[in-house]
Amino acid sequence: MEKKIAVLAGDGIGPEVMAQALRVLEAVGQRFGHSFELNEALVGGAAYDEFGVHFPDATKQLCADSDAILFGSVGGPVSEMHLEKWQNCEVNALLGIRKAFSFNCNFRPVKVFPQLRSICPLKEELIKDGIDILFIRELNGDLYFGEKKRFERDGMRVATDLAEYTEEQISSVAKVAFDAAQKRSGRLCSVDKANVLHTSKLWREVVHEVAKDYPDVELEDMLVDNCAMQLIKGPAQFDVVLTSNMFGDILSDAGAVLPGSLGLMASASMNAEGFGLYEPPGGSAQDIAGKGLANPIGQILSVATMLTFSFGLTEEGKCIESAVEKTLEAGFRTGDICGSGESSIGTEQMCDAVLERL
Ligand code: IPM
Ligand code: MG
Repeated sequence: MEKKIAVLAGDGIGPEVMAQALRVLEAVGQRFGHSFELNEALVGGAAYDEFGVHFPDATKQLCADSDAILFGSVGGPVSEMHLEKWQNCEVNALLGIRKAFSFNCNFRPVKVFPQLRSICPLKEELIKDGIDILFIRELNGDLYFGEKKRFERDGMRVATDLAEYTEEQISSVAKVAFDAAQKRSGRLCSVDKANVLHTSKLWREVVHEVAKDYPDVELEDMLVDNCAMQLIKGPAQFDVVLTSNMFGDILSDAGAVLPGSLGLMASASMNAEGFGLYEPPGGSAQDIAGKGLANPIGQILSVATMLTFSFGLTEEGKCIESAVEKTLEAGFRTGDICGSGESSIGTEQMCDAVLERL
């Protein structure tokens, strides 16, 4: 198989974890006889330095000409937040790319690796037989993309963000979630605030209409405040969780701490044509950038997700996932996933350990 991949490493730890993930991609290509053409482009602060914008047209064009996008991370250090370069960097880059390619569906898996139960911040008894949740978040609607206003009324500053959903936006992500639930445990939890919000009432209505085509999936509705509570009190109850854009942003971050480190998971943003962007959702971690300390696992698993979702290379994807699990099993730890008394290794050595087990 021959595929073109747009590589957008971005800022902070992005370039260093990306470099390692590409070693894994190369190794898998060699082993299974695929050739991947990698083309790099700038995004975030790195793009701003060169083009004065966070998501340049050249980057957009390269993505459009590719079969998939591998994304690192964007955003600046806290001490430089006042600089123009970093202002609205994440929003411009991420929302820009989501809008440009109509990425309406965001997959964020949250898994407590059996090898890493001890670094899950919850009590052992709450982890039960394991935590393995797939958040599916709508990514093109809601408060994020509705009309925004700022004005004065009676001498007071006022601001509004319109939350809007069309039934088509809801049904399209709902179908993806039902399909995913069918392939997993057959259970789907749809999160809303239907006791208060009109968008949520429509959300619930449409999700139940879609449910009629999936009689084998057990659908549960959950209010978002209750869901936040349940994620801490009983996360093992969840399998696939479907959410709107805003609720999904918050809940998926709450879920993302359960594995013990933000550096462990991959995420995928897809459009209706199956074109996708793959990234570790952990952020640019500028405090440890350039030191060779970052955990490359999230970025490596993003490669696995890309192979599986975009190219249908399931076996190749599994091969990477299993090499990562064996690496954790063998006790290799970067600083973020070190338990007390364990010693840590750097970004490159972690990748070496994965490559040895590939
Ligand atoms: C995320 C991020 C983005 C979002 C921000 C940086 C625009 O928090 O991907 O979850 O809110 O979607
Ligand atoms: Mg977020």
